[in-house]
Amino acid sequence: MKFVVAIDGTAASGKGTLGKKIANYFGFNYLDTGILYRIIAYNFQFLSDFSKITKEEVMSSLKLLESKRIKDIDLRNDKISLKASLISKNINVRNNLLDYQREFANQEGGTVLDGRDIGTVVCPDADVKIFVDAEIHVRAERRYNQLSPICNDLSLRNIFEDLNKRDKLDRNRKLSPMVAAKDALILDTTNLTIKEGTQQIISIISKKLEKLH
Ligand code: DC
Repeated sequence: MKFVVAIDGTAASGKGTLGKKIANYFGFNYLDTGILYRIIAYNFQFLSDFSKITKEEVMSSLKLLESKRIKDIDLRNDKISLKASLISKNINVRNNLLDYQREFANQEGGTVLDGRDIGTVVCPDADVKIFVDAEIHVRAERRYNQLSPICNDLSLRNIFEDLNKRDKLDRNRKLSPMVAAKDALILDTTNLTIKEGTQQIISIISKKLEKLH
C-alpha cells in the first residue's frame, strides 16, 4: 500500500514530534526533511556559493543519515538551523534533494514526511496534508524547555528571535516557500497537548484510510 502524509509547518510548531508519533501509530516510514537541509548546511557551511554544490555531493552528504557519526554532530544548534534556512533558498540544493524525498515518499507501507514544502512541491498528491503552526511565544517556550536541560547558555529571547528570523526566511523565499497547501488542514497547536494534536491527525488519517478500503 502507498499512502503519503505530508506535514508542513513553522519551526518548533511540533510537526516533527507529531510526524514521528503518527508514523509510529500507523507503522508508516518517517522522514524529517529538515535534517536533509541541516546536513547540507553542516557539510557546506564554509562555502560561499551554494549553487556550486553538485547532486553527487548532495547524495554523498546524505550518507551521514545512515552513519553512526550522525549522533556525534550537533545538527540542531541555532547556527546550523539558520544556515539550513539560508541554504534552503538555493535552487540547486532544493532540486538536488527532490528525488531523495520523492523516492522516500513513494515507498510501500505508508510514509510521513515533515518539512516546509511537502504538501506543495515534494508530494502535491499526498493523501493527507497537514500544516502545523502555533503562536510564536509558545513555540519559543517549547524549544526553550526542550533544550534547557542540555544547553547552559540558552536565552528565551534568542530562541524567539531565531525562530522569528527563520520563519521570515522560510515564508518569504521565492522557491518553495513555507505555505499551507490549498488542500491542507491547518492545525494550530498553541493550546493543544502533543496527545491532543496526535489524536486529531490520527482521526483524519483513519477516516481517509477507511475510504480507501
Ligand atoms: O524542519 P527544520 O527546522 O529542521 O528545517 C531546517 C530548515 O531547513 C528550515 O528552516 C528550512 C529548511 N527546510 C526546507 O526549506 N524545506 C523542507 N522541506 C524542510 C526544511
